Amino acid sequence: MAERLTLDYANMFAPRLGGRGLQPDVLDRMADRFRAIHADTVRRRESGELGFFALPYERTITQEIRTFAEGVGQSFDTIVVLGIGGSALGTTALQQALLKPYWNELSDEQRDYYPRLYVLDNIDPTTIGPLLERLDMRRTLFNVVSKSGSTAETMAQYLIIRDMLRTTFEGDPDGERRHLVFTTDPEQGVLRRLANEEGIPTLPVPANVGGRFSVLSAVGLLPAALVGIDIDALLAGAAGMDERCRTDVLRDNPAALFAALQYAAHTEQGAGIHVMMAYGDRLFGFADWFRQLWAESLGKRVNRAGEDVFVGPTPVKALGPTDQHSQVQLYMEGPFDKTVTILAVEEIGTDLNIPDVHPELDALSYLGGNSLGRLLDAERVATTHALATNGRMNMTITLPRADAHAVGELIMMLQIATVYGGGFYDVNPLDQPGVELGKQLTYGLMGRKGYNAPDTPDGGTEFRCR
Ligand code: PA5
Repeated sequence: MAERLTLDYANMFAPRLGGRGLQPDVLDRMADRFRAIHADTVRRRESGELGFFALPYERTITQEIRTFAEGVGQSFDTIVVLGIGGSALGTTALQQALLKPYWNELSDEQRDYYPRLYVLDNIDPTTIGPLLERLDMRRTLFNVVSKSGSTAETMAQYLIIRDMLRTTFEGDPDGERRHLVFTTDPEQGVLRRLANEEGIPTLPVPANVGGRFSVLSAVGLLPAALVGIDIDALLAGAAGMDERCRTDVLRDNPAALFAALQYAAHTEQGAGIHVMMAYGDRLFGFADWFRQLWAESLGKRVNRAGEDVFVGPTPVKALGPTDQHSQVQLYMEGPFDKTVTILAVEEIGTDLNIPDVHPELDALSYLGGNSLGRLLDAERVATTHALATNGRMNMTITLPRADAHAVGELIMMLQIATVYGGGFYDVNPLDQPGVELGKQLTYGLMGRKGYNAPDTPDGGTEFRCR
């Protein structure tokens, strides 16, 4: 068994796809371009612009996280993370991949006395309200995660929680504060100000680490440590992948291969839809996390020279085998506008035998005596072959097992690939100017001073079908 993450990409090339797909010389043609992108990445890393590269080696903050999780953190039954986008998706992905399934429904003993973990990454009152009603405020820690400290969704959640804490701990401001920990910019923003004024514990999101690249900062590590995830193994995995990606030889660098092949598939084969299909429930959160990383980083109006280019791939998340009965028909026979990246786990861990209840029925007896893990794997292998037979470009990322080390490798590989992707598409992968206007109009609609609402907030009635 491989001891580290592997990337299999033979099914991206024309000879395996009946003539469709990338030409075998594509990597040779891209090698020099990648060398330049890599050199630029190294330069920007050294200048401190790409802060996520340093996170696996960050000792001080990691120790602070550990100390908090092993000290104050032990006094709570439940952790609730308030955050959205890059402040939430990584934590959810870690939770899904690395905690026992149905974690929040397990008994204290089954959870090894670690707390439950809820990530409130939306503001739908119909789901948040019922959760809040069930919480025992005296046994719950709220981790407010916002780098900017100004995101309307997270701040609205915070105000609701703060008010609930105030009611619960009436006349006991210390009690109220003990149930809060902020993860935010080290210097700026309203959360930092409140923390400084009130002595609320905080952990930093380094200024040079953007939300979607922050899962290996306190953003993801604090909740992870609070529920007993091995954050050292996570960081070691990430560091190992960082080492593997230090080479500027395209064929030896897994992040570069991923980025280059996706980019070439888009620009040479018109495959701008990049599906990330997790085989098994545990990695599905990473398909979701990747969707944001790839979309928000690479979907841009302007290139690095400031010219309008309107580029970017469209990432799609999928779950195998479930989506074999949903999306896969389209992937197999629809337009040749997609790549499919399968996320696989080699050593599945827990398996479940399928009993041979009906040996007399051919339609069922082939399943009997097998296992669900084997079936899952067979379906994954069959799908990659079927995709290739139908001329569909696909690749497979295999984790040796779904543990913290391998997950750290995966996170780092896809983050580095995203920076390389920025190089290939010639855009800045670190900004997100396209989401600003929506934010500002929301502020206007909600009456924030200095912001205007749209002229026709409901879009006008002229074209409404009643
Ligand atoms: O990746 C990003 O930068 C965004 O998705 C942010 O994480 C998201 O908008 C939340 O921002 P903040 O952490 O400032 O509340």
